[in-house]
Amino acid sequence: MRWKTLDDMEMGGKTVLVRVDINVPVQDGRVSDDTRIQRIVPTIRDILAKGGKPVLLAHFGRPKGKPVPEMSLRVTLPALEAALGRPVTFVETPSRAGLDALPANAVVLVENTRFTPMEEANDPQMAQFLAGLGDIYCNDAFSAAHRAHASTEGVARLLPSCAGRLMAAELAALEAALGRPTRPVVAVVGGAKISTKLDLLANLTRKVDQLIIGGGMANTFLAAQGHGVGTSLCEHDLAETARTIMAGAAAAGCEIILPSDVVVAEAFAAHAPHQVMAIDAVPAAGMILDAGPETVARISAAFAQAKTLIWNGPLGAFEIAPFDAATVATARAAAKLTQSGDLISVAGGGDTVAALNHAGVADDFSYVSTAGGAFLEWMEGKTLPGVAALETTD
Ligand code: 3PG
Ligand code: MG
Repeated sequence: MRWKTLDDMEMGGKTVLVRVDINVPVQDGRVSDDTRIQRIVPTIRDILAKGGKPVLLAHFGRPKGKPVPEMSLRVTLPALEAALGRPVTFVETPSRAGLDALPANAVVLVENTRFTPMEEANDPQMAQFLAGLGDIYCNDAFSAAHRAHASTEGVARLLPSCAGRLMAAELAALEAALGRPTRPVVAVVGGAKISTKLDLLANLTRKVDQLIIGGGMANTFLAAQGHGVGTSLCEHDLAETARTIMAGAAAAGCEIILPSDVVVAEAFAAHAPHQVMAIDAVPAAGMILDAGPETVARISAAFAQAKTLIWNGPLGAFEIAPFDAATVATARAAAKLTQSGDLISVAGGGDTVAALNHAGVADDFSYVSTAGGAFLEWMEGKTLPGVAALETTD
């Protein structure tokens, strides 16, 4: 797949619609994590340097097609202005004439695209309206590219379009991790439930050499193998599905690595009394909350043999101490191998970034995606509508 980048576009004097994802966490009326805002800065700077007027289109929350005051993008303005080091003009109801009246080097932020139902419906009239606001469309919102909305998909087909710097970086990193990876490739998939990651697991078993399964979802596999998992989080009704995934992996030559020892408590609580035990020794009242030290050693050994690592999801209940130990130890092992040049490590998805931040290693991975759902869908082998709409043949 090919798409244009900012380098391919002539932008002097042009109005450039830039789809960004600044769907950032807000606490007490302030942006509490500005990562997504920081990551779009290079694109906006480059558009300005090329003489374009960036007009940012973005959604915020899920207002369900009507204006919701608490979901106004206004709340992101201070963080956006701070990140850019310049003022940003906020526009509630954009018009071409209004945008043209602003200085050539203005940066504009348009109110939440989801304040109308036409956005999520990918209504052609809304796409036309947006296209009428600018001369060029640039998509820098990889993390919203799994949505076929008017501002992510429809408008891309109506204007000369290109990928922004962040979009290009995300795609390059994912391509390096799963498209044409340097082998061996090992994937870590953790988190609570396999029901939300069935397509991911199936696709990865076809593509990677080793698949490490951790977190609550490992229990479903362990139970399917006949191990007692006590009161642990476990989708017992998916035992057959888990066996099918394991059989598929075996047929594809993908080795599945499950915990061989676990940390067991009787309650889901920070510092609950706990014990390390072999996987075949979990008592009926026991709750598996983390992988054990032997498993951590096996995972670290797998990383040491690998050339590429894909990481999605924590290995244990990392949000409560000390059940973060396996996630922290293995994340640090991956970070060290990355820093010594022995491993390409790519991580993404909801909890994953929080887990890596908690381990203090997010900056030491080769690439950490800003995307949650879009990262997963890409890893599932699905076509992302926002990316496909940028496709070009010339
Ligand atoms: C995200 O925060 O994951 C993206 O902005 C997509 O948001 P959505 O899941 O509401 O479409
Ligand atoms: Mg989401």
